[in-house]
Order: sequence, then C-alpha cells, then structure tokens
Amino acid sequence: MLDKTVYGWWKSAVFYQIYPKSFLDSDGDGIGDIPGILSRLDYLSKLGVDGVWLSPVFASPQADNGYDISDYREIWPPYGTMEDMDRLIAEAKKRGISVIMDLVLNHTSDEHPWFREALKGRDNPYHDYYVWRDGKPGCPPNDMRACFGGSAWEYVPELHQYYFHQYAVKQPDLNWDNPEVRRELYHMIRFWVDRGVEGFRLDVIDSVAKEPDKKITARGPKLHEYIRELSASAFPEPGLVTVGEAWSADTEEATRWSAPDGSELSMVFQFEHICLDQGGEKWDTVPLSLPRLKRCFERWQRELHGRGWNSLFLDNHDLPRVVSRWGDDGRYRVESAKCLAAMLHGMEGTPYVYQGEEIGMTNAPLGLDEYEDLETVNMIAERRERGYPDGDILASARARSRDNARTPMQWDDSPNAGFTAGTPWFKVNENFREVNVKAAMEDPDSVFYFYQRLIALRKTCPVFRDGEFTLLLPEDEALFVYTRETDAERLLVVCNMSGEEREFDLPAGFESAATLIANYPGAVGVLRPWEARILYVGGRT
Ligand code: GLC
Repeated sequence: MLDKTVYGWWKSAVFYQIYPKSFLDSDGDGIGDIPGILSRLDYLSKLGVDGVWLSPVFASPQADNGYDISDYREIWPPYGTMEDMDRLIAEAKKRGISVIMDLVLNHTSDEHPWFREALKGRDNPYHDYYVWRDGKPGCPPNDMRACFGGSAWEYVPELHQYYFHQYAVKQPDLNWDNPEVRRELYHMIRFWVDRGVEGFRLDVIDSVAKEPDKKITARGPKLHEYIRELSASAFPEPGLVTVGEAWSADTEEATRWSAPDGSELSMVFQFEHICLDQGGEKWDTVPLSLPRLKRCFERWQRELHGRGWNSLFLDNHDLPRVVSRWGDDGRYRVESAKCLAAMLHGMEGTPYVYQGEEIGMTNAPLGLDEYEDLETVNMIAERRERGYPDGDILASARARSRDNARTPMQWDDSPNAGFTAGTPWFKVNENFREVNVKAAMEDPDSVFYFYQRLIALRKTCPVFRDGEFTLLLPEDEALFVYTRETDAERLLVVCNMSGEEREFDLPAGFESAATLIANYPGAVGVLRPWEARILYVGGRT
C-alpha cells in the first residue's frame, strides 16, 4: 500500500470517480446512495484503485445533481447520513482507498442559508458573500452569458440588484474578494479533513477570482494568490491530494497549479485534448484528428515533466463516453476500450477512471424528452427556438450530452441492470444485458481485467511514474506510439486507434522486449483493429 502521509504519493496512484446518483441504489428509491457505494468497495479494491473521487454528496436541491450545495456539512438525505459517510471513509481506508470529496467553492445553491440571508437586504452581513450589481429590470450590467445558457445576471426586484451566476440561475457565484467567504470555506474544508477525507477535487476552481465588470471569469488576476492562500490554510498536510478542475489551463498555467513545491494543488484537470473534436459550440462535433490529439498530449507530457504533474482522463460525468466518442462502441467496443485505456495509462500523470469506463460503457441512445441534465435540456429548448430541426438536436445531444455518462451503472443483466430494485431516477442504457460488471467478472478477457492489469503495472514499474515521454510517428493518422524512458527502464506503447489493420515496425531496442500487456494474443506484427500493447525493456522482466 502507498504511504499516504508523504507528499506526492498520488503520483503512483489511480483514482476512480463515482457519480453517486447513478452508482448503486441500496434502498429501492431509484437513487444511488452511500450504502450502495459501501457495498461495492470490494469491487473497487479488486480493480486496484487507490482512491475514489465522489461527485458531490452534500445537501442540495439537485438543480445540477449536487453541484448546487445548500449545506456543505450535511449529506443529501437520499444518499444517506453522516454516519454512512463516516463508515464509507473508514471502510475505504481499511482497503487502502482514500475518499476524495468534490468541493464546489465557486458558487452555492440559491437555497444555501448564506444566499437566503443575502436576499434579506444590502445591509445583511451575508449580502456581500455573493456578487451583486445595481440595475434596472431588463438591463443587466453586461451581456455575459451563463455556461448553461441565458444571461449570467439574475434580477432580484426587492433589492433592485442583479446577482452573478456563471452556471445555473440556482447557482449564485460566491464573492471570493470577501475574506470572510474564503475563511468560511477553509473552515468547512477542515471539517471534512477532520472526518478522514484524504483529498479534494475542486470544481471549476479557475473561476473563483472572477471580475465580471471586466468580463473575466477564469484566470482572474487574483486567482493564484487565492489558491496559494487556500492551499496554505486548508490543505497543510503534505499527504492531502488536490485536483482542480481548470478548463482554462494551458501547460504554462498548469505548472503553476501543480508546482512541485506544493504551493497550490497536486494537479489540475485540463481539457485541451477534450476540446479537439469540438466545432463552433460545445454541441457541434468535428472529426478528431489523431495527429492533433497526439501533439496535444505530447506537449502536456513534455512541458509538465519535472515542472508539474498531469492528471490523465478521457471520461467523467460531464463528458460523453470515450468508447463511443473516440473508440468504436459497435464491433470493436472491447478492443477499442482497452486501446484507449492503454494509450492513456501509459503516460505520465495520475489516471482517473470514471464509473463504467472499466467495463466499456457506451453513450446512451436517449430520446429528446428523456434528457435530465439542465445543460442539455436548456440546449434543446434554445436550439428549437433558433429553428434547428429536432433530428439535428438529437444527434448533438446523443454525441455530446453529459447525460451519456450519467445513466445508471450496469451491474448485471437483471432488470434495471442491478442498479435498483425500484424505478431508476434515470433511464438505464439498453445495452446492459451485454455490457455489465457481472459479465466482465466472468470473462478473463474483459475490459475490467485489462484495467486491473494496467493499474497494477503502474505500481510495479517506476517508469510509468517517472519515464520521459517521446512521441513516435507524430503524423500517422492511425497509430499512437510513444516511449517512456528512465535510466533503468523503457516502455513502448503502441496503439492502433483505428478499425483497420496497420503495418508497424518495432523501433530499435525493442526487438526482444517483453510484452507487459496487450489486447490481442501473439507477438507484434501487423497491428489488428484497435490493437494495443505495452512493451518493456529493463530490470523487471
Ligand atoms: C463542473 C462540474 C459540472 C457542474 C459545473 C457547475 O464543471 O463538473 O458537473 O455542472 O461545474 O458546478
């Protein structure tokens, strides 16, 4: 087991993200819950992960599935109680699994007592916890748009003021320029550290230092000053792992966020690779260019080596399922899921596995009236208004909606995929009879066991943590090939990211290399559709 009191332990770790609402329902109300997670800790142990990042479990009206918090110190009742949470932290720890909580520090719910107080009047001490500007109805302070559609300003007639919200109307932005706000948040974080939480994912953390008058949301001038203060005040223990969600981060920024002196965070989620297949708006897709994807990863690998730390992910609760997006969720579902995993897990950084990714779950073929996510629902309404045909809107939703990742976890082939004995809060993907955990457990060639081996490899060969990355064949349209090297070990990661056979010549020095993992039997020859293998030269064969 890793020594989690030491700074940097997370460099050898793999984390697993749980979206609690959709993970496992233990009491038949159709909503996943903490006892459900508890009952699957052995499953996570078997996979071999070192930590679970829980999407928010705090009290919330659930306008944005928990990213709208009304009490940071309470558990949302359908998820369970504080005792359940304490038990989860303790039971996970016994298995060497750290619980990482999701901190939403940029905004609260409009039902948070702070906001309720703020609404009482300009003189109320909580009024300045949020971002207000004077104004008249129909004349917002400026034309800034919220991420989920509509204006970023909401008028409150009683106060003759607008409040600022970068996300939904029900998610008013906190005013980080008020030192009281920051102090309260740090205090709240310590409440969870004292309960045994070993790390945090920090939601849209690059947005906290906003300056709406200058139309600045991410990367405000005071951002890093605030983050260093947060780190010093709330995360003094060297072993706490922190990962910030930072859509605005480029490599230079990321070396500040993840500076090796620990003055800010352990690492950030950056999204440059994720945006490569995006057209004009989030909902418009352009084909992914593999050479661009490779160059993007290469830059992140090279520029953070020794100067910062990468997080590695292809899936999360806000993204479509990668096997549908960049793999092949039809004939080569299993091969392509493994190939994408090998491509990612061979790199330098800390990998994150999103629930269901380890069994190759796919996008959900929902109908337009079945979407739950407010971002998608708003998009559907907005695009209908703009005259888009329903067929086009549906195609966008099916390709890009966050709901693709939010259908219930597929545990077995019984009704509702074993997710609930009741009526699931959200439709189960109809392919659950084929794609489920039970089937994966029974098949030694399943995606699950491939992930299990990849996760174990990261712990046995230091080159996965330390090796320097070199991209080979940068212009090849189908092959993603790279090496990782230290003085003692060398890895060659070969991925055929296409459904066609491809010629491939082993680079010098790897002729007699051992195969650490592969998704096809036999030796390296012509690469078969979505073939992936990791070869090794060094002291540990
Ligand atoms: C982050 C979360 C997303 C949420 C948003 C607002 O991007 O990952 O799910 O809707 O922040 O909190």
